[in-house]
Amino acid sequence: MIYLIVAVVAIAGFLFGFDEGVIAGALHLLKSQFDIGPLAEGIMTSAVPFGAFFGALVGGRLAEPIGRRKLLVFAALLFTVGAALAAAAVSVQFLTAARLVLGIAIGIAGMVAPLYISESAPAQKRGMFVSVYQLAITLGILGAYMVGYLVSDSWRLMFGLGMVPALALLVGILILSDTPRWLALNNRRDEARATIARIHGVAPNAAVVTEELAEIARTADQASRGSGLSALLTPMVRPALIVGMGLFLLQQLSGINAVIYYAPQVFQLSGFGSVETQVLATVGVGVVNVAMTVVGMGLIDRIGRRRLLMIGFAGTAISLGMIAVASTIDSPALHYVALVGLALYIASFAVSLGPLPFVVMSEIFPLHVRGLGMSIASLSNWGFNFLIVLSFPVLVAAIGLAGVFTIYALICVIGFIFAVRMVPETKGLTLEAIEDHLRSGRSLRSLGRGSLAAAR
Ligand code: BGC
Repeated sequence: MIYLIVAVVAIAGFLFGFDEGVIAGALHLLKSQFDIGPLAEGIMTSAVPFGAFFGALVGGRLAEPIGRRKLLVFAALLFTVGAALAAAAVSVQFLTAARLVLGIAIGIAGMVAPLYISESAPAQKRGMFVSVYQLAITLGILGAYMVGYLVSDSWRLMFGLGMVPALALLVGILILSDTPRWLALNNRRDEARATIARIHGVAPNAAVVTEELAEIARTADQASRGSGLSALLTPMVRPALIVGMGLFLLQQLSGINAVIYYAPQVFQLSGFGSVETQVLATVGVGVVNVAMTVVGMGLIDRIGRRRLLMIGFAGTAISLGMIAVASTIDSPALHYVALVGLALYIASFAVSLGPLPFVVMSEIFPLHVRGLGMSIASLSNWGFNFLIVLSFPVLVAAIGLAGVFTIYALICVIGFIFAVRMVPETKGLTLEAIEDHLRSGRSLRSLGRGSLAAAR
């Protein structure tokens, strides 16, 4: 059952990636059909993260009152409508509006889907399951890049194909129930029990179900009345907010979406002449992204969140630095350095910075503010995503690719320090154990770091 849940919810991740990545292949066609200036290009491209920002805001407000499942149904409908509108666009403004709708869908799905998986998965495999969501994002990006390569003459078909996974999500989510934790929180204990039993594949009166339900019910009962914005700022929750928002800020300012959305242009700036090789190299980015996400999934519950983050930030800082130096000294080998550097950069991101913010965000908030907390952390994701996507063309024009990559590299160095100092280790702990730790007044960063740090 858990596999079915993960598979259905992962379609939301696929759509997230597809609608992010599809613009890379479509942009040159759109530019030749419509009269698009650089600002209009930036606005149209960044309409997705801009819309997603509002989607995350709405998602956070509604995740508690209407539930995780209904929100995903709503997102699936928006994905379908958005894809149809984008395919039928008659002007750049129309397309920008359609991308805004898609963005809202992504923003909602982007926070509800990992929440849904996290609240349904057994603790030992939670990290891996939540990372399936990131894997689905990367598959969506790769799918979009391949569509860009294969139907290279029709941007309408590229956008329209997004309706297929959108409808699949709609059908899939209709057959699932809500998460056991949300059901318990809303005093629907019988349904919660039935769902836990289905997840474990046992009878509803099995001991494992009773135990898990008791644990969940205990935290649900503890959930203090206040679950509004002010509850996020209490000393117990504030550190989770800082870590959740901080990780997404750093994930985005590492520059990933300058590469994901504008990959062909990045390759062009790195000396790849023909459109064909640029688009092919872009597919290469998609492949490395998927492959290394799989590697990350294997590592996340073994070497832990914190160590994996350090590895990721070190790798992205070094690879970006490499490309920046090669293009500053105008190395004759720039072409190759850029190719190797970008592969290393995507690999380091995918194994670590890609999945980890989602995993950690879904773990560190106490139940009573989990939906809201994740939504605010997602706002940081989309706000900074928007900033990077909007600013990249302007920054490249002003300070060149080397300058922009230098800034991203420095941010990755800050990310490394953040991982060392602020990020807790949640590997193998149940969500309830994490919550108990916070309720006992101990600091978030001391979580999972052994007795030495816990004493601080
Ligand atoms: C990020 C996206 C990014 C993707 C790349 C995700 O974790 O949130 O913004 O495009 O990774 O794989």
